[in-house]
Amino acid sequence: MVALLCGSVLFACAAPAQPVALDSHRTPDGSQPGSAATSPPAPPESASTSSPEPSTSANEQPATSEQASTTAASGAVSRSTSVGDRRYPRLGSADLDVDHYKVALRYDADGVAFTGRITVAGQFVNATDQLALDNAGPTVTAVTDGAGELAFQQSDDELLISLGSVAPAGSTFAVTVDFASAVPASGSFLERAGLFRNETGPGVWSVNEPDGTSTWLPVNDHPTDKATWRFAVTVPEGLSAISNGELEGTTRDDATASSTWTWDQNEPMASYLVLLLVGEYETEDGGRSSTGVDIESAAETEDVADLDNYTAIVDRQMEYFTELFGTYPFERYGLALADSASGLAMETQGKPLFSRQDLDGSVGYFQHLLLAHEMAHQWFGDAVSPATWDDIWLNEGWATYAEWMWLEREGLSTLEEQAEQSLAGTAHRGGPVSRPHELFGDVTYDGGAAVLHALRLTIGDEAFFDGARAWVTDHMDSAASTDDFQATMEEASGRDLDTFFETWVHAATRPDMFPATA
Ligand code: TRP
Ligand code: ZN
Repeated sequence: MVALLCGSVLFACAAPAQPVALDSHRTPDGSQPGSAATSPPAPPESASTSSPEPSTSANEQPATSEQASTTAASGAVSRSTSVGDRRYPRLGSADLDVDHYKVALRYDADGVAFTGRITVAGQFVNATDQLALDNAGPTVTAVTDGAGELAFQQSDDELLISLGSVAPAGSTFAVTVDFASAVPASGSFLERAGLFRNETGPGVWSVNEPDGTSTWLPVNDHPTDKATWRFAVTVPEGLSAISNGELEGTTRDDATASSTWTWDQNEPMASYLVLLLVGEYETEDGGRSSTGVDIESAAETEDVADLDNYTAIVDRQMEYFTELFGTYPFERYGLALADSASGLAMETQGKPLFSRQDLDGSVGYFQHLLLAHEMAHQWFGDAVSPATWDDIWLNEGWATYAEWMWLEREGLSTLEEQAEQSLAGTAHRGGPVSRPHELFGDVTYDGGAAVLHALRLTIGDEAFFDGARAWVTDHMDSAASTDDFQATMEEASGRDLDTFFETWVHAATRPDMFPATA
């Protein structure tokens, strides 16, 4: 059984090289908040305010944007360059609440370099004279707002835009940033997140969790700030572009021998769930699922026929997970096949991404596992996103648990066996499930799923699945924490779960036996 050999860590399956590098390379525990210490020269208007950074203590105590706004209510001017995520202190700004990103990208003839323009619109959460976006790759050439050009600096993976005066908390903004980026020629998705070149033909694909989007777009790159998105992607003759949401249209420009593909994601989406594919893509209308969801997939021309082999499975999974977790959270669903190496699987919102080498038309254990896992993420991860990256088990534990339930239903393995194996493999190592040593290691996946199984045995099936559905409804289109999850499960079960969460979720090691059934 594949999952037992590779520990169900999806992308560790195909490439046993530790996926850990993804996280530990870039954000060793205990590092200082990325650029929180870097402040641009204060403009005259705010000469007396010395950039109070609400997140400097964030290494220990992740600050929520609510906490940050309390700080600013004292009259200080905030210049936040972090939302205080312990694992990724460089990400986000506690001063911003983005509502909408309007993105235009223009790819060059080879499809590996592009120029872009992004309009970022939203409200300031705190009074501030600076708008800070995460920007760990693009070269910015100009920033404007309705009134004209704005001064900016690029440093430490941040784009710091000077507003010229103090914008009060609650006021709105809309800035437009022009930039240029190139798609790196090197690096695997096991080592970094962001944009990658196609394996075999012209084009690119992206996988952005957790911090990849800001390596190619200036954004507020943290799941606590969801927004709607619009991508207009201009590609040379012969290529096409795929993104999240609805394909609004395709226009051709004969003069430049290019076409523009416009995608509209009008449901709030975390930045790490952005999908972008450029290549010889076609969309495939998969009709409507039996649960009433529009199905539209995308694959390169030579792979389109492979999609048909998964239509029936996707339909049955949608029905099954809808029954367990509640109504499918988005308007549409579909599969996207990237020209990547094997082992890629990512729950990009409404249209999860797989490698064409894994969904190659064959239907077996591994395909069932991948399809179940990424679909379940639409409820756990996409509709409800992690409040901090330490809460990742709420994504991966649930997706893995859903995978086990599906595999059992298909007669491909038993839940009992998966749970026992996973607990045995993870109970005594890897750190707490709520603060795992490796972000995408098997404590997060198998350990997280084993904890969910232990919870189910503790509170019983009815409370467990009632709680699962309440979790999704209560936190839909937003981000929630492990403490929020405990509260939901306490409410669903009518029980105090402090001891359970202490023992199974927060402790450095876990019991090696499951509790007796409720
Ligand atoms: N969330 C992905 C999954 O479904 C795993 C993942 C996280 C990932 N970061 C990635 C995959 C980067 C590829 C590249 O399990
Ligand atoms: Zn996953």
